This record gives sequence, C-alpha cells and structure tokens, in this order.
Amino acid sequence: MSILVLGGAGYIGSHTVDRLLAENRDVVVVDNLVTGHRAAVNSDVKFYEGDLADKDFMRKVFTENPDIDAVIHFAAFSLVAESMVDPLKYFDNNTAGMVKLLEVMNEFDVKRIVFSSTAATYGIPEKMPIYEDDPQNPINPYGESKLMMEKIMRWADDAYGIKFVALRYFNVAGAKPDGSIGEDHGPETHLLPIVLQVAMGKRDELSIFGDDYNTPDGTNVRDYVHPFDLADAHILAVDYLREGNDSDVFNLGSSTGFSNLEMLEAAREVTGKEIPAKIAPRRVGDPDTLIAASEKARKVLGWKPQFDDVKKIIETAWKWHTTHPNGYDDRD
Ligand code: UFG
Repeated sequence: MSILVLGGAGYIGSHTVDRLLAENRDVVVVDNLVTGHRAAVNSDVKFYEGDLADKDFMRKVFTENPDIDAVIHFAAFSLVAESMVDPLKYFDNNTAGMVKLLEVMNEFDVKRIVFSSTAATYGIPEKMPIYEDDPQNPINPYGESKLMMEKIMRWADDAYGIKFVALRYFNVAGAKPDGSIGEDHGPETHLLPIVLQVAMGKRDELSIFGDDYNTPDGTNVRDYVHPFDLADAHILAVDYLREGNDSDVFNLGSSTGFSNLEMLEAAREVTGKEIPAKIAPRRVGDPDTLIAASEKARKVLGWKPQFDDVKKIIETAWKWHTTHPNGYDDRD
C-alpha cells in the first residue's frame, strides 16, 4: 500500500514526505513545482512533476502506481492577501482542483483522502479557543476556497464513499531540526521567516501590522505548530482512515497563543540579534486572535505534538535560515 502525496515538495508536504520515509512507508509524490522545490524531496522518491487538475496526468500516476490506497493533499495556494486580489485563482486551483482530483480518485477506486484545511475557514471566531464544530464564516477567498473543498469532500463521501480527514492547521512555523528542509516562499509574507530574515540582515526591519487589536499587548495572537508535528498528524490520519473509521475534521495547533510582539521577543532571544521593528498599519483580514482547541486530534488520532515551546520552533527555523540563506536557491 502506498500513499500519494500531492504538493509533496511544498513546505508542509516535504516535511511529511520526510517523516513517511523515516517510517519506511511507500510514497509517491506529485508536485507542479509552482511553489514547491524539487530539492525539498529526497531524490530517491518516486516523483511526478505535474498538476493534479490535469486528469490525464493523474490517471497516469494512478495507473503506474496501482498500490496507492490513500492520498494526502497539500497542493493548494495559501496566501490570504493574494486571495483577496485574485480570488478566482484560488477557486480555480484549490476548489475546482479538488473536484477533478476526487473524480479521478473515484475512477481508480481510491477512497481515502487527508486534506490540509485551515483556521482561515473559521473567519473571525466568536470565542477562543476554536472548536471544530464552531461556525465557519471565512473572511477571505483563501479560507472560502478551503471551506468549499471540505464541503465537496463531504458530498463525495455521501455519494461515492470517499472517506476524508480534514486537518485545520493554525500557524505553521519551524523547520526540520537538522536544518535540511524548511520554509522557502517567494515572495515571503509569513511572520517568522520575515523576522529571521531581519535577524540575518537580509531585511532592514520588521513591520508589525497593527498594535491596536483587542489582545493583551495590542498585536495579533496566533497559535504556532511545527511542520514535524503536522506531518505526524497526517500519517496518523491516513492510519485512522485505513482502519475503516469515518470521515472527520480536526484542528491542529498547540492550544497556546503568542502575540506578534512575543514572537519578536522570543526570536531576539533565540538568535541573539537585535531585530529592528516598527509598528505599521493593520493588514487587511487579520483576526485579533486565533487559538485552536486541538484536544480532539490528541484524543481521537492519538496525536502527540513534540514542539510545545515556541522558542524550540524558532530554533529549528533559525537553523534552516542560517544554513540556507537563499532558501533552496532554485528561483530565477
Ligand atoms: N505579520 C506582521 N508583519 C509581517 C508579517 C506578518 O506583523 O511582516 C503579522 C500578521 O499581521 C499576523 C501575524 O504576523 O498578525 C501572522 O501572520 P502570517 O502571515 O505569518 O500568518 P497568518 O496568521 O496571516 O496566516 C497563516 C497562514 C494562513 C492560515 C492562517 C491561519 O498563512 O494560510 O495562518 O491561522 F489560514
């Protein structure tokens, strides 16, 4: 039995492929390399470069690998701000892509999918922490595109018996502790990589987007989770479906919140660098606070995250950034 990882050359996908290989699982990777990096995936892995929305390409992958019995789907666009200005890009790649993927999975009788969903499906939560059955009212097209994907999977389960696990991640940060794989987005928009780029002298200063939010220090509060722990959750979710369990949804976070100022302070301690910062205007679409209730994943999937300390997360990211100042160095 083999697991097909879609988007396996991306940030979280590559950490999951790495964990699957460490557990000697059979893996096939698909990535169109639009945002992923070939160098993030072990060169011995069976790798197909192509797009999951290309049904003939996906038919070839399933035909050549008849032992695939489960799919892990990371292959989506994920930038909130970009989705506000180009929503159709998100509904096409993310949402329409899911329809095509499920059609081909059904053709090949592959009935298990583990899917990267997001805290962005909740929108502006009414209370903290956020539980899986809280209202989902996304405030940006990215979150909407992923909520639609969740809904499509529900109906595909009803009609064709394709079982799914949707994992709603909160804020992902960190790298493989040995520094060999990590986060490399172009352009970079996420807080921790930007903070560390300032620490390395690659940027002059950090702009903190807003200090007048309804939080203890006025800056946004987020719940950080390490890709190593996310990878474990995906593998547990595949096993959960292989055991014959029903479709379900889980939050993945640390259940602890850190403000943007606290993250900056922690990064100053870990790196020993000054990291100049200034307060800048709010960014559109940032909820005050996002903290996950993630007991359900711990209880039902047996998930045991190892990175419960944000400084440990920052240390792993710092190792990646200092050893890979130009990321994977594969951009034109
Ligand atoms: N921030 C800054 N300055 C920067 C970059 C970010 O102050 O230069 C702030 C943001 O305003 C926000 C916090 O840092 O308050 C975190 O921002 P990120 O861009 O790192 O992450 P987001 O919270 O916007 O989004 C991430 C993922 C989404 C996911 C969301 C769910 O990118 O895909 O977490 O929590 F939906």
